[in-house]
Amino acid sequence: MIDWAALRQDFPILDQQVHGKPLVYLDNAATSQKPRVVIDALTRYYERDNANVHRGIHELSNRATSGFEAARARVAQFLHAGSADEIIFTRGTTEGINLVAATWGPKNLKAGDVILLTELEHHSNLVPWQMLAQRTGAKIAYLPVTGDEGTLDLSRLDALLTPQVKLFSMVHISNSMGTVNPVAELCAKARKHGIVTLVDGAQSAGHLPVDVQAIGCDFFAFSGHKICGPTGIGALYGRQELLQAMPPYQGGGEMILSVGYDQTEFKPAPHRFEAGTPDISGPIGLHAAMDYLDAIGRENIWRHDQELAGYASEKLAALNGIRVFGPKQNRAGLISFLLKDVHAHDVVTLADQAGVALRGGHHCTQPLMHKLGVESTARASFYFYNTPAEVDRLADVLREIQKFFAA
Ligand SMILES: Cc1ncc(COP(=O)(O)O)c(C=O)c1O
Repeated sequence: MIDWAALRQDFPILDQQVHGKPLVYLDNAATSQKPRVVIDALTRYYERDNANVHRGIHELSNRATSGFEAARARVAQFLHAGSADEIIFTRGTTEGINLVAATWGPKNLKAGDVILLTELEHHSNLVPWQMLAQRTGAKIAYLPVTGDEGTLDLSRLDALLTPQVKLFSMVHISNSMGTVNPVAELCAKARKHGIVTLVDGAQSAGHLPVDVQAIGCDFFAFSGHKICGPTGIGALYGRQELLQAMPPYQGGGEMILSVGYDQTEFKPAPHRFEAGTPDISGPIGLHAAMDYLDAIGRENIWRHDQELAGYASEKLAALNGIRVFGPKQNRAGLISFLLKDVHAHDVVTLADQAGVALRGGHHCTQPLMHKLGVESTARASFYFYNTPAEVDRLADVLREIQKFFAA
């Protein structure tokens, strides 16, 4: 039995009042809060070990380098990758996807090829591919969603897996609908056709156990800040064989074996993709975050997420004049909704006055919003430190907002 309420005490930020009301933080899909162990790991690094990595042979540089590389090995374990050499540090999910689009993309795509995406994608898993399509003459096709439930129409997949498709990039958990996509099944189908796959794990990596080998994807990207780690750090998993064949992302120090005035010999992956002085404290903070999450157990976090989302669905469905988005079954820990005749931004502004932090807008999924015929939604997104009492507070605040607008 996990004492979820007690875990809140690990998060100093949660213990505060906002506009004179206790903070109810329900914007975890945007970024999670940080436990004391992560804050302490960052402080300890800067107080005791700060130095540049892979360069010096002095004690501090050795400590910084071993902390940095230990974090890489820890990410490999966190994702169940075969080796630390399959892990590239990035600024986050966005940069991981851009790295693949910028390096794997031009080498493997030509005019007439197809990049397959889903209609659920975050702009991070859309815009880089549009840019690549423009550059190469490739086209983009989409696996459709079914409507307000936000689930993929899998009956359309076989017809979309044409010989022209070279890459299938898909979100694991939708940040605006809470849909959990059957990524292992999608990757298995793609693999049968020799299609390379990328999974956007921004919303999944810190919420459920991830095993990239079981999923069978070629690439998997996630962000540290959404899994209790610092901002500005994330990781990209890439299958060894693909990474070794990919050209570098950026050029500079750290990524070379030798440089002459005329030519350069690059390091193998993953260092080939990490030019310049990297974020060093980031991986160290991320390491502490992964240890913290796995001590709780991501299978436990997932159960808690789903219970809270189920409870929130019931509470919100009981309000009159609400449109709730997302799947009825197997919903991840977030819920998007619209109150009748109230703009999502007004919901979020008034909720904020009551101490409840929500998000309102298109959630970086503008095409999906257009498809659903809305401009924006309000979204409550949960993490393991949220409680049923906070969901009750959310429902009460929404009821007050409805009353305010009805008056
Ligand atoms: C599904 C999804 N993909 C990608 C991203 C981009 O993550 P980041 O901004 O950390 O790079 C997000 C962020 O909200 C997301 O929810």
